[in-house]
Amino acid sequence: MLYSSLLRSVLFRLPAETAHELALKSLASAPSFVTSSLARRYQRSPFGKLKRFGLMFDNPVGLAAGFDKDGIGLLALASLGFGFIEAGTVTFHPQPGNPKPRLFRLPLDQALINRAGFNNEGAEAFVRRVSKARPDCVLGVSIGKSKVTPFEDAVADYLKTFDLVNDVADYIAVNVSSPNTPRLRELQHGEHLDQLLGALQKRNRELAEKHGQKLKPFLLKLSPDLSDDELTDAISVAQRREIAGVIATNTTTDRSHLQTDANLVARYGEGGLSGAPLKTRATTMVSKIYKMTGGTLPVIGVGGIFTANDAFEMIAAGASLIQIYTGFIYEGPSIVANINDGLRRIVSREGFVSLDEAVGSGVQ
Ligand code: FNR
Repeated sequence: MLYSSLLRSVLFRLPAETAHELALKSLASAPSFVTSSLARRYQRSPFGKLKRFGLMFDNPVGLAAGFDKDGIGLLALASLGFGFIEAGTVTFHPQPGNPKPRLFRLPLDQALINRAGFNNEGAEAFVRRVSKARPDCVLGVSIGKSKVTPFEDAVADYLKTFDLVNDVADYIAVNVSSPNTPRLRELQHGEHLDQLLGALQKRNRELAEKHGQKLKPFLLKLSPDLSDDELTDAISVAQRREIAGVIATNTTTDRSHLQTDANLVARYGEGGLSGAPLKTRATTMVSKIYKMTGGTLPVIGVGGIFTANDAFEMIAAGASLIQIYTGFIYEGPSIVANINDGLRRIVSREGFVSLDEAVGSGVQ
């Protein structure tokens, strides 16, 4: 409430990335009495514990990758009631990302365009920070390719990052779908994807054996811009490589059907579009994956979720967890509790006895 009336109007006067940094740093420096009072206000467990790919989630609403790339505000973010947080994307090498400005708001469309380019302090710094301050919820770590690493060496680069983050992550999101790292999305296809996932799973088995631990769940994050054939191909590789789940979707490079003036959109330039215009595309992709796999492969649905209705549509399309990013920017912290409370009402109104029963219920 306070966010939409006051804080948002202050933050939205600032350049988008400045506002983001300010909000994240303020959260990160919040004293513990503030985070515990936030936790009392916001934390939710409307469906009891949810078991997904071997992990237990307090609720199905997660923070999508890219919001807290360096893991600086995880404790405070968890106190806002997220069931899980996907930190990163982190790369093996620290890197500055693309030149600023690289993040733009499209309020008419409830959307953002970003070409951040994985600005982050590198996997080693990430692990040092996060091992001292782990959030009180499931923590996913998204890993990507360092820009300086040639495409041909991508697999080795991902492996080095995985080796580092393995200890702090509950699950690993393999990001091969950001439009802002040259050639990254080629890794979603055929042989490239097979080699990458094969090498990561091999290392996963070796590390699990060495430390006497369970295999780390790997999730594959996909682009909404894949054709049906490309999607079928990527899903079959993921299944062959025993990937624990899929995250659908990342941002799109498509700019059709926007309300924002086309000249302005053109001036913002390249990057990934997120928010409301992505919703139908992302939800449709989730239902395609659900159909292809007969619901056997867990899907995290992400793209354009602002309300509990949006979240329910994603769940009915086959997502067993959901994530938000742009909705969090536009609606503020209360969005997490609002979606959880609304979902509980919708699930019981629709006659389901549990959230799990609602997953995929809309897929013909
Ligand atoms: C992102 N997203 C993203 N995804 C990812 O896997 N790694 C990343 O580093 C980032 N970085 C990033 C930065 C910014 C500024 C935005 C807006 C988005 C994509 C994000 O996780 C999500 O998949 C999309 O934004 C779609 O969800 P929303 O925003 O429509 O809820």
